[in-house]
Amino acid sequence: MKTPSDAGNSATVAEAPLQARATFTSSLGVLAATLGSAVGLGNIWKFPALTGLNGGAAFVMLYLLCVILIGMPVMWAELTIGRNSRANTVAAFQKLAPKTPWYLIGVSGVVSAVLIMGFYTVVCGWIYAYIFRAATGALAVPPEQTVEVFNALYTSPIQPIVWQWIVLAVTSAIVMAGVTKGIEAATKRLMPLLFLLLLICDIRALTLPGASEGLSFLLKPDLSKITAPTVLAAMGLAFFKLSLGMGCMVTYGSYINKNENLIKNTGKVVAADTTVSLLAGLAIFPAVFAFGYEPTSGPSLLFITIPAVFRSMPLGGLFCFLFFVLAAVAATGAMISLIEVPVAYLTERFGWKRNLATLATALSMALLGVGAALSSSLLSEFKIIGRTLFDTYDFVTSNVLLPVGGIFIALFVGWKWRQAAIAENGGATAAINAFTVFLRFVAPIAITLVLLQGLGIIRF
Ligand code: TRP
Repeated sequence: MKTPSDAGNSATVAEAPLQARATFTSSLGVLAATLGSAVGLGNIWKFPALTGLNGGAAFVMLYLLCVILIGMPVMWAELTIGRNSRANTVAAFQKLAPKTPWYLIGVSGVVSAVLIMGFYTVVCGWIYAYIFRAATGALAVPPEQTVEVFNALYTSPIQPIVWQWIVLAVTSAIVMAGVTKGIEAATKRLMPLLFLLLLICDIRALTLPGASEGLSFLLKPDLSKITAPTVLAAMGLAFFKLSLGMGCMVTYGSYINKNENLIKNTGKVVAADTTVSLLAGLAIFPAVFAFGYEPTSGPSLLFITIPAVFRSMPLGGLFCFLFFVLAAVAATGAMISLIEVPVAYLTERFGWKRNLATLATALSMALLGVGAALSSSLLSEFKIIGRTLFDTYDFVTSNVLLPVGGIFIALFVGWKWRQAAIAENGGATAAINAFTVFLRFVAPIAITLVLLQGLGIIRF
């Protein structure tokens, strides 16, 4: 890693891409891209899995609290940093605070992107595989045998890697097409489709006899279920869900025009993303309870329970297929944004062509990802502090790197760069004042406490 003199070391290399820097072409495009990053497997796989594991409504409440108190202000902060600096996440901090260590937030972000993709591509690979299984009727087995269908995939040492690499190839191709033609065009088409498919699944699940038990699991909190690790999981999910804490929104912010309203965009993205998570929960839990399944199966909830659930209803095969297409659609928009973080850095820092940068990023994700893809087969015994590589990538990013990144982003905009952040948003308003207070005090203190408590470093 070179010293943070990026902006000064070669004006010609640094300025050329900046002047020609691509931007999203409309407000709708901005919303679609940022929402496309936020909505992903986090909503459809992680949110239901963690909600089921952590007792339902109480966890959902904690999660919503983290989204409002921490997620919204941090998202606004990231978008503001990005738009003002018009640079990748490392260069952004170098520009706004030259010759200081703040740029390390960006470095941690580039590392986080690769680590997250290490396991994200595995789960997305399972989803791609399930689209084909649903289409060919391979999921049309008696409900008690869906476990075997999943295990055949899950414990295979080859299939998860093949699917993982297909996922990476498809996503890289979109990223190579560039910001406007690739990212904006793809997400604009994918997002409406996602809402539509989700609504179809919801109507189906909610009209099942016995759906109400799942509904109260999701809506009636049992406060005895709240523990320190639960709170940490809820906060980690909030960061993961909203793509925060590692400069993803800084990078996307850098493609946003000056005349867009960042506060409004933040509000819309958070509201829509939360709606998608709740809609996914509404599609899953009523059906789980209606058919007498357990909500606590964690990461496999989606892959074992859902096909079994769909199997037990009229037109189930079709809904199952639609459901996994939906999950793949959501995952693709999110992965695009994860790949874009290192790609923006590599093209701007080293002057690499977009295609080369994408290839290098995808290759490192593939290499690291193999460890996660083999975590349920050849490497299932390989554990770091009791966690497989898959779980380690997940835990270290969601529950450590992203929240720590979030603390520093909040401190940066709340204290060091506050006036400029306010000016970038056209002067102080009630909303901006509220956000800056959250960034100064609420977010850093809350994140630190939850982190220390959740990791067992302090106990109250
Ligand atoms: N938010 C996405 C999801 O819910 C995942 C994601 C995309 C992400 N970009 C990110 C997570 C950046 C953390 C950081 O699936």
